Amino acid sequence: MSKVTFLSGENIPLEMHKVRMVQKVNLLPVEERLQSMREAGFNTFLLKNRDVFMDMLTDSGVNAMSQNQYAAMMQADDSYAGSETYYRLEAVLQDIFGMKHFLPAHQGRACEHIIAKTLVTPGSVALMNYHFTTTKAHITLTGGSLEELIGDEGFKINSDEPFKGDIDIGKLNEAIKRHGKDKISFVRIEAGTNLIGGQPVSMANMREVSRICRSGGIKLVYDASLLSDNLYFIKTRDPGYQDADIKSIVREIASLMDIVYFSARKLGSARGGGILVSDDELFLKMRELVPLYEGFLTYGGMSVREMEALSVGLQETMDIDVISQTPIIVEALCNELLAKGVPVVTPPGGLGCHVDAMQFCSHIPQDQYPAGALAAAIFIASGVRCMERGTMSEQRNEDGSERMAEMELARLAVPRRVFTLSQVKYTADRIAWLYQNRRLIGGLEFTEEPKVLRFFFGRLQPIGGWAEQLAEQFRKDFGDSL
Ligand code: F0G
Repeated sequence: MSKVTFLSGENIPLEMHKVRMVQKVNLLPVEERLQSMREAGFNTFLLKNRDVFMDMLTDSGVNAMSQNQYAAMMQADDSYAGSETYYRLEAVLQDIFGMKHFLPAHQGRACEHIIAKTLVTPGSVALMNYHFTTTKAHITLTGGSLEELIGDEGFKINSDEPFKGDIDIGKLNEAIKRHGKDKISFVRIEAGTNLIGGQPVSMANMREVSRICRSGGIKLVYDASLLSDNLYFIKTRDPGYQDADIKSIVREIASLMDIVYFSARKLGSARGGGILVSDDELFLKMRELVPLYEGFLTYGGMSVREMEALSVGLQETMDIDVISQTPIIVEALCNELLAKGVPVVTPPGGLGCHVDAMQFCSHIPQDQYPAGALAAAIFIASGVRCMERGTMSEQRNEDGSERMAEMELARLAVPRRVFTLSQVKYTADRIAWLYQNRRLIGGLEFTEEPKVLRFFFGRLQPIGGWAEQLAEQFRKDFGDSL
């Protein structure tokens, strides 16, 4: 495995790959970082990548690919219908998941669109461990609503619970009773629960949820976008799976589900996405929507080159040395930050390191978007771009009032096999400086606020002149250093 013990006794993450192609990045002076943040309307989504030093916005579509993935892209069979490339991908997916049918889609949210259109009816409720932004948008746009059943530990910033993404079985039974099974569109389990800090779901929990759904005739949907991290945690945190091979764990998970879907921008380190299903009737219903919204059935909006890269990437996901790389770097970043007193979500999850903005910026009221303000401040202090995962990422209630998020997190995503340990240490150092100067950070307010998924392209402004003061303090403390 890829954590080694040094002579000092320290456990150091070790990269199990070497870098053979590089992209130059720019670290702008603090004044220019401030200027780009202004131009981006204090929304890290609107920054230009050329102004960004380390792009930790997301792990989506920005993972490093292997030489074998690039090689496979050269063998792509370009055809609208019946491409060999598609059949290769279908065979890989059937082999790994053991499910009968595969429907391609251009990315994860496209799968959510198709699943919502197929299973959600107006007035129905989808039950889930926790929502993801695009999942929620598709369910509500189709007239349904959703209810979250994450266990209480899931909302605790610091916990010893190894599987904080688990569904609370008591809440699930109660919700089924309360709504009645006919009103429930589906139950959804999200692997590596994104919005609560990339926290995994245990096999025991999936088994129990599946048993309850099957006995009640309720469809169980699995969002496998963050499956690779979740597999790593099942293997390393569940003593029952220490000796299991990765593929057998995937097979077991898939055997519990009715539908599995994924964003291949995360799973398989490629692009695209897809839906797996064994039930013929459900397959036929969803199949109708693929040519309508995505593309013909043998590409579904993906390019043949993406599909080739995905086939290889999925097979490589069965290798613990490959899937361990992000979780061990996340853990290293979390530990660096904790050592400097910075509050982060623990235990460290997959996907990224999540800084707790509620504590970091406890002086900023929640309706002034503390996590959004922290994300903007981190960029000014470091050139590192991260993502707000808090109230800004929520949709307003029907009556226009703010829906306050349960957690206010600044997410430093760790794209797979992209950053080195020294870059990670730099990030921790600058965030530690920011933490010492946290009182300088102020709130944000919208100047342009889109109705749906406002966090993507909404524009904001700082309340008061805090951004300038922060840059000035940086200059004072670091002199000429970037
Ligand atoms: N489900 C989960 C759990 C996700 O994390 C994402 C995307 C999606 C579905 C949608 O997939 O982007 O391919 O359409 N998460 C990205 C992120 C955007 O940055 O966390 P998509």
